[in-house]
Amino acid sequence: IGGLPVSIQNIRDVSEICKRHHIPFFFDCARFAENCFFIKQNEPEFAEATIQEIAKEMFELSDGAMMSAKKDGLQNIGGFITLNDGEVFEHLKELMIIVEGFPTYGGLTGRDLDALAVGFYEVMEEDYLDYRIDQIRYLGERLKSVGMPIVEPTGGHAVFIDAGKFLPQIKPLEFPGHALAVEFYREGCIRVCEIGSMMFADVDPETGIETPATRELVRLAMPRRVYTASHLEYIVETAEKIVKIKDQLSGYKITKQSKLLRHFTCDLKPKAMKKLKLLK
Ligand SMILES: Cc1ncc(COP(=O)(O)O)c(C=O)c1O
Repeated sequence: IGGLPVSIQNIRDVSEICKRHHIPFFFDCARFAENCFFIKQNEPEFAEATIQEIAKEMFELSDGAMMSAKKDGLQNIGGFITLNDGEVFEHLKELMIIVEGFPTYGGLTGRDLDALAVGFYEVMEEDYLDYRIDQIRYLGERLKSVGMPIVEPTGGHAVFIDAGKFLPQIKPLEFPGHALAVEFYREGCIRVCEIGSMMFADVDPETGIETPATRELVRLAMPRRVYTASHLEYIVETAEKIVKIKDQLSGYKITKQSKLLRHFTCDLKPKAMKKLKLLK
């Protein structure tokens, strides 16, 4: 949670359990380079290792991985699955024909594949990772200093605001995270993302009764190589304005939702249409 890293020991332990029970062990490796950077920082065994060496050690413990290349592929689009099992590969190829097309259709364009080939090397440059992780740490500190509670310590790729703590007047199933996300957009045109009960509540398929998620968070994910320090200050200024009106904020109700992954497409309406006095 919170973009926090997985240690090599944890990966070794899971790998060992999976092997013992003949369960294939797959990574979601979208943030693999950030994870390697934290391993280097936190684990004495890898203090002198390069990011490439740590990545090799990590991936050798898995049977395959799913990659969303927009993240640590430094790519604009696309992704892939890696495998070490020919049978699973054949099965996935058949499924792909149903949902996407023949592998020979190509998937990504040539220029995207070229960008990915370069992106994989650049993402492992320590200067890049150092700057990126430090941006997250800095933004987290600044948000805290203006009164927004965050998940600590900060990890990679995003700052997570604890919306449940920030807006205690809004019940989990009235989505405090979404209320805060709306306010970031209304105040500063900043797009952030609820990671709480709208995304992760457990909905009983028969009764429709919902059990809230364990945390009500908002993710401020940082685009790579885009934001300067003044962009971060703008986010903080917006947060400061929201802190001033936090007691006026109320929750939301879902009016339309899909069966799967409702947070991507659901419609919501505010529980109370209070007229907010927005600050200049
Ligand atoms: C670890 C991880 N995996 C997967 C995804 C989603 O990737 P996509 O949008 O390509 O489905 C994200 C998005 O932030 C992510 O952080």
